[in-house]
Amino acid sequence: MLEIKNIYKSFGNLQVLKDISLSIEKGEIVAIVGPSGAGKTTLLQIIGTLEKPDSGSVLFNGTELIGMKDKKLSAFRNKNMGFVFQFHQLLPEFTAQENVALPALIAGTSKKAAMDKAADLLTHLGLSDRISHKPSEMSGGERQRTAIARALINDPEIIFADEPTGSLDSANRQEIQDIFVDLRDRLGQTVVMVTHDSSLAAIADHIIEMADGRIIIPPAEQEAIRENIPHIEVEESFSVVDSLDSGGDRSENLIGDSVEEIRKSID
Ligand SMILES: Nc1ncnc2c1ncn2[C@@H]1O[C@H](COP(=O)(O)OP(=O)(O)O)[C@@H](O)[C@H]1O
Ligand SMILES: [Mg+2]
Repeated sequence: MLEIKNIYKSFGNLQVLKDISLSIEKGEIVAIVGPSGAGKTTLLQIIGTLEKPDSGSVLFNGTELIGMKDKKLSAFRNKNMGFVFQFHQLLPEFTAQENVALPALIAGTSKKAAMDKAADLLTHLGLSDRISHKPSEMSGGERQRTAIARALINDPEIIFADEPTGSLDSANRQEIQDIFVDLRDRLGQTVVMVTHDSSLAAIADHIIEMADGRIIIPPAEQEAIRENIPHIEVEESFSVVDSLDSGGDRSENLIGDSVEEIRKSID
């Protein structure tokens, strides 16, 4: 579904990604792990088209996303990609239902259809009694489940999650983990996540370990390359990594419309 080839990215003279290539198949959960500063968030944001690489290619079902014009890209992203960040990034002035409905309204879905679907998703995620609550009136776990509902509203091909359990206690981490497993197993949902949570990473079909802007290739895979086996998959245990990093603080362009415009489309 996704072919990422030879991605390079620098911020000033800091080279953050150095020749990253990987492929992601439909229906799998891929976990990107590694120490803080390894480039995980930058890679996720480039794959999710929220950030542009200096060079390289991101093919999404055969369509090249690098170089696509911003407007077309926003529409493509809204239709095909869902995002969940460490800090829910819900808009405080809107209810859970309105927050979830927003990407559908932006995509041109009628208000009734968008609000009905938002209510269904929230109910499915166990939040039927939180539909009219604002983010400040919900717990951290409830806000994160609302963020997952928002990521799902346009039936995206892929969900990107950056430290989705990073700000939660263990009971809530378990709930979020169960939701991702259910989405994959029941709906065939493709998920790419960055995580420091070893128990969350353990649900992944593939674990990509990064360090210093590169994907670390485990010794067994290096052997396979030497033997010229064409398709290799990085799938190895990894060391649980160091401190939490902030993650997901570059999502401002996720919903480009101003709050006033959004409010107009809801009222
Ligand atoms: N917008 C930015 N401007 C400058 N440096 C950045 C920016 N975003 C990330 N970096 C730097 O790039 C490196 C990798 O960051 P990041 O992708 O967030 O790593 P990770 O998610 O693995 O912790 C870090 O050194 C970070 O400080
Ligand atoms: Mg990060």
